[in-house]
Amino acid sequence: MDNMLARASGRPVPRRRSRVALASGMVGLAVAATVAVASGANAGTTLATAAAEKGRYFGAAVAAHKLSDSTYAGILNREFNSVTPENEMKIDATEPQQGQFTFGNADRIVEHARSRGMSVRGHTLAWHSQQPGWMQNMSGSALRQAMLNHVTQVATYYRGKIHSWDVVNEAFADGGTGARRDSNLQRTGNDWIEAAFRAARAADPTAKLCYNDYNTDGQNAKSNAVYAMVQDFKARGVPIDCVGFQSHFNSASPVPSDYQANLQRFANLGVDVQITELDIEGSGQTQADNYGRVVRACLAVSRCTGITVWGIRDTDSWRASGTPLLFDGSGNKKSAYTATLDALNGGSTPPPTTPPPTTPPPTTPPPTTPPPSGGCSAAVSLNSWNGGFVATVRVTAGSAPIDGWAVALTLPGGATITNTWSARATGTTGAVTFRNVDYNGRLAAGVTTEFGFQGTGTGPTGTPTCTVS
Ligand code: G3I
Repeated sequence: MDNMLARASGRPVPRRRSRVALASGMVGLAVAATVAVASGANAGTTLATAAAEKGRYFGAAVAAHKLSDSTYAGILNREFNSVTPENEMKIDATEPQQGQFTFGNADRIVEHARSRGMSVRGHTLAWHSQQPGWMQNMSGSALRQAMLNHVTQVATYYRGKIHSWDVVNEAFADGGTGARRDSNLQRTGNDWIEAAFRAARAADPTAKLCYNDYNTDGQNAKSNAVYAMVQDFKARGVPIDCVGFQSHFNSASPVPSDYQANLQRFANLGVDVQITELDIEGSGQTQADNYGRVVRACLAVSRCTGITVWGIRDTDSWRASGTPLLFDGSGNKKSAYTATLDALNGGSTPPPTTPPPTTPPPTTPPPTTPPPSGGCSAAVSLNSWNGGFVATVRVTAGSAPIDGWAVALTLPGGATITNTWSARATGTTGAVTFRNVDYNGRLAAGVTTEFGFQGTGTGPTGTPTCTVS
């Protein structure tokens, strides 16, 4: 039975002034008034549930010091199932003095997320920017070693807790050259990027390893250069799993017409693609339409595994004057939110142009046949080392949508689960059952979601059983 959602919102359009080079123009004057109709048996009512039903995550960049703001945390907990620390995992935050690591603020975000079943994108291990003073002053082999040590220490500290790491950020130059960006890291040798990826894989074999950049969202000289690098890495076995497309858009840098095609060509190289820092300056219907386009582009690319918006409320944005996010400064849903949710739910109709009928709804009782039950299946993949393991479990709905699942498996003697993400476990040893968390229980037919757990000892063998609950 179709579950129809009808939403309407309207708000005054705030005036906006540009404050960064990227930010200019795009003042939409349209008054937001959207009626969206979500189609499908399991239309999600939040960004997280709607995305999860399509096998994707929906995340937000989060600032640790805002977690005590109840409006902010309330939206985060309700709407999102992935977080990216906005600044707290950057090099200047995690290694302010060489060899002295500080994880307090990043830990607060990681704990907030994982205790609620949200996954975490790590951002970022190696970057020309936000380097602490000691690193800015380094060069040559000393810098190379310091960079690799940083990657190793931070990725090891968070081993098993990070869904994807932005291993290297923004290493290519703007403009039409397709060259690497000049930086102290680049001057240590062209192989610094692959060295960082190899160090990250060795430190955390469970995280997906991403290259992340901006102005690579359409096909251009810069994205061509990144494409060539990824192609080369895949050919030579350099460990790379994903490419992040930051997707900071405004009128000077609009959503490219070949956005989907560009995501697809990277996916065709055998990597996942992720929209990692989405924000779109503007307001009203224009902004809403652009958000819808971005979401539909991701959903059309099967290896586009998730979307992260770069902040929660407009006032949380690094370019707040451009009102680029999904919630206004008071935490109200904008029309951009409605368009995003509607696109995630896969259906949209324009506002009705004629008044709705005044006749009462039909009184025919609903059909009494039970919903089809297609069951579910689960498969485990293990990353093991001497004394420990991380298990990633893929749960796939059968031929019908499901509204909750439970996966049962048995751990060998001596094995103990130390933490679990995106599921709730009944125990830590022996026969353990994992049940879905709030956002990943409802899956459309054939759609897959993932959860994971880390443990000491030896990981489980054999096929787990999956039951619909
Ligand atoms: O927290 C201090 C505060 O104590 C101090 O008074 C104030 C004075 O300037 O600075 C505050 O820190 C600022 C921090 O944001 C937190 O607001 C830094 O100066 C400022 O440089 C930093 O900007 C961040 C920027 O990256 C630079 O690292 C933005 O928040 C963050 O949104 C932005 O994110 C980047 C991604 O990492 C990479 N892609 C582009 C994206 C947008 O620029």
